[in-house]
Amino acid sequence: MKSGLGLHKIFNYISRKLSLIIFNQRLPLGYIMFNTIYKKYIVNKKIEDDEILKFHNSGVVKLNINLKNEIEEYKDKLFIKEEDKEDTSKRVKFSLNNQDKKDFVKKVKKKLTPLIYKLENYFNCDVFISDILPFRIYHIEDQNNLEKEAYANHFHQDGYLMIYNKIFINLMDINDEDGPLQIIPIENKKKFFKSFKYKDRNNYNVFGDQNLIYKNSGTIGECCLFSSPQVFHRAGVPKTYRDLIQIILVTIPKKYSAGVYIKDEVELFKGNEKNIMKISKPYSLISILKLLIIFFQRKSNKS
Ligand SMILES: [Fe+2]
Repeated sequence: MKSGLGLHKIFNYISRKLSLIIFNQRLPLGYIMFNTIYKKYIVNKKIEDDEILKFHNSGVVKLNINLKNEIEEYKDKLFIKEEDKEDTSKRVKFSLNNQDKKDFVKKVKKKLTPLIYKLENYFNCDVFISDILPFRIYHIEDQNNLEKEAYANHFHQDGYLMIYNKIFINLMDINDEDGPLQIIPIENKKKFFKSFKYKDRNNYNVFGDQNLIYKNSGTIGECCLFSSPQVFHRAGVPKTYRDLIQIILVTIPKKYSAGVYIKDEVELFKGNEKNIMKISKPYSLISILKLLIIFFQRKSNKS
C-alpha cells in the first residue's frame, strides 16, 4: 500500500513537471487531457451569453450578480468560533447560527439560480453548489518569500478537473490594499510563464509583469466566477485582512451527485472537501476516462 502511494506520488510529480514544460500548466497530464476533451467536445459551444463566453475564453468573469443586500443583512451575524480563533494559518472561518445559515443560503441560491442554469447549459450537465465557506485572511509578513506559503498566496492552479469551479463573493469593499484575489486569465498564460519565469509554485520571479494579472477588487457583494483548475491564481495579501465567501460548484450528472448535491442549507457550511474531491479529483487514468464517458453520455441523453 505504502509503495503504491509512493509510486503514485512520483508519477504525479513527473506528470506535473511535464505539464509545466509542455503545456504551461501545473496539473497532472490526465487532467489536462480531460479538460481539453471536455472543452472541445462536451461543452456547449453555441455560447450566446457574454458572461459564459468570457468564462470560457478567460477562465474568469465578474458576474452581473450582486449580493450586497444579502451580505449586509447577515454580515453582523457572522462570527468566528473560539476553536477557529486559534488557527495560526492566518485564515479563519466565519460561522453563522443554523437559522441564519438556512435563510442566507436560500437567498444566495435564489440569486445564483439563473447563473447555475447558464452553467448547466454550457457544461451540458447538472451543476451543484457543494460548499459555502465564509472566511477571513490576515496580513502575512514576507509575502514574496516563495519558501513559505500561508494560504495559497503563491501562483498555482487547483489540482482538480474543470468540473470544479469557484465563486468568490466580496464580504467587504476590496481594493488593492486588501489583497484581492489575483488571476492570470487564460489568454495571458503564455506571457505569464515567460515574464514570471514560472517553473513551479515555489520557483518563479514574483516581480514579473503585473499587468498580466487580473485583480478581483470591487465592492461588497460583487461576485467573481473562476475556473480555479484552469487559471493560475494566488491569494493577494491584505494590509490588515480580507473577508469573502467561497462557493464551490461541482458539475456532475445528477445520478452521480451523491455527496455534492446537498439539499440541507446548513450542511453546505460543513466543509465538503472530501466528497468534492471524490468526484472532481480522480487519482487514476481509468477513473478519468470513466468520468469522461459519463459526461459524454449525459450530453447525448440531453440532446
Ligand atoms: Fe487555489
